[in-house]
Amino acid sequence: MGAGSVGGYVGGCLQAAGAEVHFVGRPRVLAAWAAQGLRLTDQDGRDQTLPPSALQLHEAVPAGLRPALVLLAVKCGATRQAATELAAALPPGTPVISLQNGLGNAESGRAMAPGLRWLPGMVPYNIAELGPGHLHRGTGGKLAAQDDQALRAWVPAFAAAGLPLVLHPDLRPVQWGKLLLNLNNPVNALSGLPLRAELMDRGYRQVFAALQREALAALAAAGIQPAQVAAVPPDKMPRLLALPNWIFLRLAARMLRIDAQARSSMADDLALGRTTEIDALSGEVVRLARAHGREAPLNQRIQTMIEAWPREPQPMPSAELKARLGLR
Ligand SMILES: NC(=O)c1ccc[n+]([C@@H]2O[C@H](COP(=O)([O-])OP(=O)(O)OC[C@H]3O[C@@H](n4cnc5c(N)ncnc54)[C@H](OP(=O)(O)O)[C@@H]3O)[C@@H](O)[C@H]2O)c1
Repeated sequence: MGAGSVGGYVGGCLQAAGAEVHFVGRPRVLAAWAAQGLRLTDQDGRDQTLPPSALQLHEAVPAGLRPALVLLAVKCGATRQAATELAAALPPGTPVISLQNGLGNAESGRAMAPGLRWLPGMVPYNIAELGPGHLHRGTGGKLAAQDDQALRAWVPAFAAAGLPLVLHPDLRPVQWGKLLLNLNNPVNALSGLPLRAELMDRGYRQVFAALQREALAALAAAGIQPAQVAAVPPDKMPRLLALPNWIFLRLAARMLRIDAQARSSMADDLALGRTTEIDALSGEVVRLARAHGREAPLNQRIQTMIEAWPREPQPMPSAELKARLGLR
């Protein structure tokens, strides 16, 4: 549900490994897939193509479909609408795993569609559309989800599809661990650069580090220990990011194993004038801080900057971004 980068990649890999998959998405996306098929590549050498004739593409959840599992892969702002559509078409109890960033999607879905079985999930890697119908995983990691009877039977199918899935008794620390990494999304979007090039600029890294420090302080105040999602433990990350290039490049080699093309989808959202997920990321940090008697002014400021960004953004040099945030 939400056939785009994540839905297409995860659903496509499952189909390539033998699962029956139906993709529900927008006409402009589905038209490209119907014309070209779906090509799935990754940084480890995957290169598979599902031909157009193999794809079951739908502009709405088909009546009568009885999926064993729904992968929800719309942007956070589209969750409620998608949940309403799913509830209208699917039997109660159908498991829905949210493969979205942020923390509140499963709850939002449950609020709109309490009859469905909502399960939070986490996608650690970057998936970019390199061309019409060509989805590419440009970083590594393992999918994660809340442990649930409905998902246990799926673990071997995900493994067979080259999508290792780890189930956690409590996904919240994992979601926060991912959110800390996603605090780079607004920085990347404002930089106008691919992820790797942006992370090679110390100024952008200093902004990312400052946003993380603020979030870590809010998490500490809330008594939440974020899980390690990247190669570096969350509490060590800001110091590493702020190091000068010559030493950062040596110490962060694993973190920089990012394909040259990968970039945050928030950059695409800004470029296309779409609503971004900033409120589900920096906004969540601001809310957590406030709930514990603190402020998170940098996250608040960058949220305001993203929300105020004009439709045709000009890249912002790191020195200007630091100055606008009051960082030295
Ligand atoms: N891409 C990544 O690298 C990545 C990595 C980890 C996590 N994530 C998270 O995964 C989620 C999905 O991201 P994405 O990059 O895959 O987004 P995406 O490429 O924009 O795909 C989502 C698609 O779902 C469509 N959609 C929205 N509501 C729908 C509905 N009711 N019915 C059918 N289609 C609908 C969207 O159309 P409209 O544009 O018209 O709304 C869009 O085409 C986000 O929360 C993101 O943060 C992304």
